[in-house]
Amino acid sequence: MRIHFFRAGAIGFALAWSAASILGAENQPRYLDASQPVETRVDDLLSRMTLEEKISIVHADSKFSTAAVPRLGIPRRWVDDGPHGVREDVGPYSWNAVGGTNDFATWLPVLSALGSTWNTDLAAAYGDVIGSEARARDKDVMLAPIVDIARTPLCGRIYEYLGEDPFLNARLGVNYVEGLQSNGVAACIKHFAGNNQECGRETINMDMDDRTLREIYLPPFEAAVKEAHVWSVMGAYSKFRGENCAYNDYLINHLLKGEWQFPGFVMSDWGGTHGTAEAVRGGLDVEMGTLVGSEEPSAYSKFFLAQPFLDGIRLGEYPVSLLDDKVRRSLRVMIATGVLDPRPAGSLNTPEHQAVARRIAEESMVLLKNKNHALPLNLSGIKSVAVIGENAVRHNANGFFGAGVKTPFEITPLDGIKQLVGDKAGVTYSAGYAKNGGGSNLVAEAVAAAKNADVAIVVAGLSHIRSQDDEGVDRVSLSLPYGQDELIRQVAQANPRTIVVLVSGPAIELGPWLAQVPAVLQAHYSGMEGGRALANILFGEVNPSGKLTVTYPRQLSDSPAHALGTYPGTNGTLFYKEGLLVGYRWFDAKKIEPAFPFGYGLSYTTFKYSDLKLVPADGTNEIVTAQFEIKNTGKVAGAEVAQLYVHEKNPSVMRPEKELKGFKKVFLKPGETQTVTIPLDQRAFAFYDPAKTGWVAETGDYQIEIGSSSRDVRLKEHFHLGQTVVTK
Ligand code: BGC
Repeated sequence: MRIHFFRAGAIGFALAWSAASILGAENQPRYLDASQPVETRVDDLLSRMTLEEKISIVHADSKFSTAAVPRLGIPRRWVDDGPHGVREDVGPYSWNAVGGTNDFATWLPVLSALGSTWNTDLAAAYGDVIGSEARARDKDVMLAPIVDIARTPLCGRIYEYLGEDPFLNARLGVNYVEGLQSNGVAACIKHFAGNNQECGRETINMDMDDRTLREIYLPPFEAAVKEAHVWSVMGAYSKFRGENCAYNDYLINHLLKGEWQFPGFVMSDWGGTHGTAEAVRGGLDVEMGTLVGSEEPSAYSKFFLAQPFLDGIRLGEYPVSLLDDKVRRSLRVMIATGVLDPRPAGSLNTPEHQAVARRIAEESMVLLKNKNHALPLNLSGIKSVAVIGENAVRHNANGFFGAGVKTPFEITPLDGIKQLVGDKAGVTYSAGYAKNGGGSNLVAEAVAAAKNADVAIVVAGLSHIRSQDDEGVDRVSLSLPYGQDELIRQVAQANPRTIVVLVSGPAIELGPWLAQVPAVLQAHYSGMEGGRALANILFGEVNPSGKLTVTYPRQLSDSPAHALGTYPGTNGTLFYKEGLLVGYRWFDAKKIEPAFPFGYGLSYTTFKYSDLKLVPADGTNEIVTAQFEIKNTGKVAGAEVAQLYVHEKNPSVMRPEKELKGFKKVFLKPGETQTVTIPLDQRAFAFYDPAKTGWVAETGDYQIEIGSSSRDVRLKEHFHLGQTVVTK
């Protein structure tokens, strides 16, 4: 394969250098002097730009770029999806893949898998791989990560989401962004704020009360801005309180740029801009993907922030200061990420990157059931393995729209199992069903294979097609398609040692066969190394340590958005009636038994929790530190995700029963004990008070609960907060 690395930094530097040489070294403009503060360089560069040059960088000039300003050495700005690896190159003026030889990338496990690791170090490593590969592939801005909340399990993009809890999303999102941006690439966190379903996403007008917005949907974005200093934000397609999210005066001007002091730029989603005046005034800084009815390069001048914006300025409709603010934000990000200076080269799909992909896959798989230690499988007692199900051989890296990656290889479940088993046992494969209908002979073949084998592994699930795990449309039910429920039932009847592996986003309805099978593993879409990771878990080379980040309901109607009938909205409007009670908060409040709770996941070993102490904190922002012991009481090494939930006993306002406010993943050898400490700050106790426009941690009694899942609390301790603290 011919590999040709073209580095944007090098181009930017070359252009800048030529500008400097035209001007003469002694007259080098300040914006090219890397020793100057970013703002000085921005001011200088902005002051040299013409009106037309400024306009040229606030809208796209191809599917995934904004224009260069060669006169000043500003290179073309390349942006790209996506969350799971640097997307293959398309266009530039069409959605067709260019078919290049150097546009491949590491395919990492999807974000619902990353979430399930509950490992913040892995989130940073994930971002670092994306950032490094973005550099190697000439990308300046990566359209990732997604930190939207998984509000309904039907959401077509739920596999791209980290989960249903704002605290967990924030912790993982922050580390992802930091890892990515450490490579001199801007992250573009998305979709701000409230792309929680695909159904009607481009037109729906959503609303919710202020506490719900602040406490559930905004925290991951707020943390990315305030802690990770994310450089760009993508507006959601939908409307919020009647105005488009990408240029919503309240969300963008007031909250993001005002209250949170976000210094970077806001980019539209592709085709998410619908008017010049509202976009100009509502705070949109870069317009992408508008449909102008033609794929010609000249069509880009018709964008709302192109010629119409320029005309408006010339006619005095918009002050130049509005344009300057948008340009300044783009220049600030370019300069801060080193676009005008020499930048690190990055590297593509190295063995180290592949190892990160494998480790994430291994830590993400969630063992949902393991009756009588059905797993791990011990090859010394197994001579034949029947692998069943199309998902055992399907390649999933192409994702859908922005979530796909051109991976150099993809180890499927069947590949992984065959590689690990080698010649120690025979491995057969039968499809069991076909997507386009395959009739009962496929089921019969699978059942016969299962009957003749020592163990049957059914790799069931979904794929990236319409109405499954796919962008732009939602699922229609939580059931497995293509008669897979019946297939599993029949295989389990033929061979009681049937293991079910799910390749899908969360959540699947397992009720029709759960009682019949001894073991179930949620494996997600687990990246290029996924099949190897899966085999390592099935055969005990790796101990599973993933935990659910989404509640698995027993039936869809148990989920809040569906129980209240608010999904998918009425007459174009969607009110989030469940308010704060999203995910486990709802199941707790309504005392509904889920199929599997948030935070749940089994291990091949056991853990004992003990000795919870609450140590008053000496730090400024910190209120108290929870300290406890975890011991691995089993025979194999393993990792446990200890979760800390806060419950306020007599709140003055409605509060969820308990909320995740801390977690730690600990790795323990058999017999080993570790002391875990989890600090709690003011926010861990606070609710948002719209009247005070601030966060109130009120004086009173709290219970600190330490659990192995949200429904398996192992330790509890009472805590009294002596005085009310209000922060902004
Ligand atoms: C998606 C974004 C994506 C963009 C560009 C849109 O359809 O919503 O997440 O970044 O396309 O591919």
